[in-house]
Amino acid sequence: MPGYELIGKEEQAEINKIFDEGSGVLFRHSFENIRKNSFKVKDFENKFAKKMGANYALAVSSGTAALRVALAVLDLSAEDEIITQSFTFVATVEAILESGAKPVCADIDKTLNLDPNDLKNKINSKTKAVIVVHMLGTPANLIEIKKICDENNLTLIEDTAWGCGGSLKEKALGTWGRMGAFSFDFAKTITTGEGGMVVFNNESDYTKAAAWHDHGHENNPLLPRWEDSRTGRGFNFRMTELQGAVGLAQLKKLDYIVKSQNQNKKEILKLISKLDFVSPRLVPEGSNETADALVFFTPNKEIAINCREALLKVGVSTKILPEALNWHFAKKWEHIEEITSNNDDFCQSSTILEKAVSLPIFVNMEKSMPEKIFHQLQKAIDL
Ligand SMILES: Cc1ncc(COP(=O)(O)O)c(C=O)c1O
Repeated sequence: MPGYELIGKEEQAEINKIFDEGSGVLFRHSFENIRKNSFKVKDFENKFAKKMGANYALAVSSGTAALRVALAVLDLSAEDEIITQSFTFVATVEAILESGAKPVCADIDKTLNLDPNDLKNKINSKTKAVIVVHMLGTPANLIEIKKICDENNLTLIEDTAWGCGGSLKEKALGTWGRMGAFSFDFAKTITTGEGGMVVFNNESDYTKAAAWHDHGHENNPLLPRWEDSRTGRGFNFRMTELQGAVGLAQLKKLDYIVKSQNQNKKEILKLISKLDFVSPRLVPEGSNETADALVFFTPNKEIAINCREALLKVGVSTKILPEALNWHFAKKWEHIEEITSNNDDFCQSSTILEKAVSLPIFVNMEKSMPEKIFHQLQKAIDL
């Protein structure tokens, strides 16, 4: 798992610099006379954009905020529909609802991400955009999905909450669509405690989002902030300098995290693939996964639950699958009328999800872990 395993003195050192070199200014704008040119959030944005190969990056207060800010660029109304996938964290749909549009969830396929065929079924004249999610760190079928979006003149946004540091055909996740939204919450590949980032290729999208996330402030360099210009409304989704400092230190660890997780995942997969009831998740060709998790399918729901129980007996937990679908599956969101009113049965998604087990992958994996997992899974079939 993620940045929280590797958090410590480097992050502390970056925070200390705010006080030692920047007079303790924790706000990303203004205070030029005392901050001695210390701009942690700005620095984090620039370095993040460069790392991802995007033209612009905007740091925000959470991954949910990143999605909301990206949607603000599209000027949506209650008539508009945004398609996302049935298996995602509820935040994706919450951001759509907050933007004023209607969420529509399409089924997933065996990548556990958006099924291009069901995406096609869900497109109609009201559809404005598609939010594809790289759930649990594996790229969605972006080639097919982007083609469908282009053919139907739809904006593609990537929910890259799980995809930071991953790529498809060597192009970073988050940069395939018009905008990519990242999360740095405490369980993500890199973390700032809470936090997020939106990446953009178009300057006009970036400019609009930057103003919207800051009450409409255009941050005109010729004006003091209290006299700043604006052309529209906004909200406050700003990141603080403290988060920016932590992000700078974490970003330097991203390659190491992704590489270690992939190695550890490979070791576990090699062993558990010997079990004939285990079949791995489908991964699009050319994927570089973040490897935050290892997902596999079992023959049925009972065996998936047995796997979790057998693992828990030795203190190994699973991650979301099979236990946390309440928060991650549209079929369970009875509290969201906009979803229930679509009367989707999500039958295809249910059939796929109920057989799936997801193992968290740690950077600092105990040496004995692959064997331990293998032995417990062996027992799961007989429970
Ligand atoms: C797929 C997905 N999207 C969005 C979010 C929201 O991110 P945050 O917790 O930073 O608001 C999460 C968080 O887990 C997520 O898993």
